[in-house]
Amino acid sequence: MSHSHPLSFLFLVFCLIHAPLFSSSSQQEQPQIMLPSENKPTQKLTTLHFYYHDILQGENPTVVQIIDPSNKTPNGIGTTFMMDNALTEGPDLSSKQVGRAQGMFGVASINDDRGMFMLINFVFSQEGEYKGSTLSMLGRNPVLDTVREMPIVGGTGLFRFATGYAIAQSLWSISSEEHFVVEYNVTISLP
Ligand SMILES: *[C@@H]1O[C@H](CO)[C@@H](O)[C@H](O)[C@H]1NC(C)=O
Repeated sequence: MSHSHPLSFLFLVFCLIHAPLFSSSSQQEQPQIMLPSENKPTQKLTTLHFYYHDILQGENPTVVQIIDPSNKTPNGIGTTFMMDNALTEGPDLSSKQVGRAQGMFGVASINDDRGMFMLINFVFSQEGEYKGSTLSMLGRNPVLDTVREMPIVGGTGLFRFATGYAIAQSLWSISSEEHFVVEYNVTISLP
């Protein structure tokens, strides 16, 4: 390529001379990035502690099965329940009721880990500031694990804009086939 056109050489020189100009002008066209303000919003953490009661059998069950795939599905996937469960201050069902857990859960895992989906609205009934406020929980619940974590995705009333997580621990020692007790520790951030 010893006989390249003289214009090619000129073009190359032109480009080299103007390259810094081109790059600096293109930088100027970039949108300005807004830096975050130094004042970070203060995060208000609230913790709630209560016990959840699945009453599965007996005279007054609070959990009803709404989808029954009748052993046709691997590991019962699709089996779905709806519940309106009591939330109490202490582990005993007769202790002070602080709210209800209303929603659904079902087997969402095709494997044998009994991974369930949980879709629960907690409504708080205790007198005082939380009365009538709700928290919504949506998450995966591998019920064979003793301790599980599920996200809190929102709330109403005093819990507007809440986000956080729930730690659920099955209390096997005081649970039976007809009455299952789970301890909940909920941590939420409020604006
Ligand atoms: C929940 O919190 C209580 C203290 O309020 C604590 O004793 C308990 O171990 C916690 N449970 C879990 C599963 O984090």
